[in-house]
Amino acid sequence: MKKALIAYFSQGGTTRSVSEQILKGLNGEQFQVDLYDITEGPLFDINSYDLIGIGSPAYIFRPPFCVVEFIKSLPNLDGLPAFAFVMHGTIPGKTGNVIRNLLTIKGAKEIGYAKFKGADFWVGYLQRGYLFSPDNPNSNELEMANNFGREIAANFSDNNYIKPDMDSGPGIVYTIENLITKKFLTNYVYSYFFKADAQECNSCKICIEICPNNNIHLDKNGIPRWGRNCLFCLYCEMKCPKDAIKSPVDWLIMAPFMSYNIYQADKDPSIDQVKVVHSKGKTKRV
Ligand SMILES: Cc1cc2nc3c(=O)[nH]c(=O)nc-3n(C[C@H](O)[C@H](O)[C@H](O)COP(=O)(O)O)c2cc1C
Repeated sequence: MKKALIAYFSQGGTTRSVSEQILKGLNGEQFQVDLYDITEGPLFDINSYDLIGIGSPAYIFRPPFCVVEFIKSLPNLDGLPAFAFVMHGTIPGKTGNVIRNLLTIKGAKEIGYAKFKGADFWVGYLQRGYLFSPDNPNSNELEMANNFGREIAANFSDNNYIKPDMDSGPGIVYTIENLITKKFLTNYVYSYFFKADAQECNSCKICIEICPNNNIHLDKNGIPRWGRNCLFCLYCEMKCPKDAIKSPVDWLIMAPFMSYNIYQADKDPSIDQVKVVHSKGKTKRV
């Protein structure tokens, strides 16, 4: 029996649920599959696998920094068959391209690529009352994910895979957003401006528990402080039950970008949405 590994990053759970369906599809084709959450750290036994898959959400039109770092941390893959899939709430931009290129640079042989929609818990949209792709992945997409697993198994054995074209890049405004949230700026500029209001914060540590990079600690007064290893996912701010956390996403300069993104997604009939109220760490549909 062939062995496959699906390495994924998933804060909201949608990438994980699609990974599970791909796993089932591959299982049905006689692959033994391990799921690997990349926040567990670098992978040491890649050589024991016949196939590797990378599952990643789009984070500001690219993969999250931790996904890029994970792929870079892999040894040379020396022709190992590989596939990638991307989750997106609105516009995935260059997320898939970056992952596919990195896998190629690592020496992997691409045998599958797919995109699926996933509920978009980006705090900048939630604060403005929008949840895009709220019920994704839906049952249809989960079935497509299962079929994708079967296709990968077929591509593994028959060598007839034709690489799909790269995705078209994000438009100019999205590219600017992408540029102003680069890793360097995130860690050496923005991360200094994450603040918890000492009056509101009750040191519940939820922000610490959910930070995928372990980038938050409590200071001697029990108030969260941020290190220099931020993903700019803003889950700390989004999940704070006291609304005590403020970050650069609340800066006025970000408002036109949020409005533009919402306007574009709002008028795109292929993107579902519901109106929500987001407060004290909870998102409620209205
Ligand atoms: C910080 C952040 C940035 C995001 N940026 C994008 C984006 O640029 N384009 C997009 O289509 N979706 C974006 N999304 C939505 C996610 O890609 C989508 O909801 C995905 O399903 C989340 O995966 P998960 O549930 O496994 O965490 C973003 C979400 C977050 C939290």
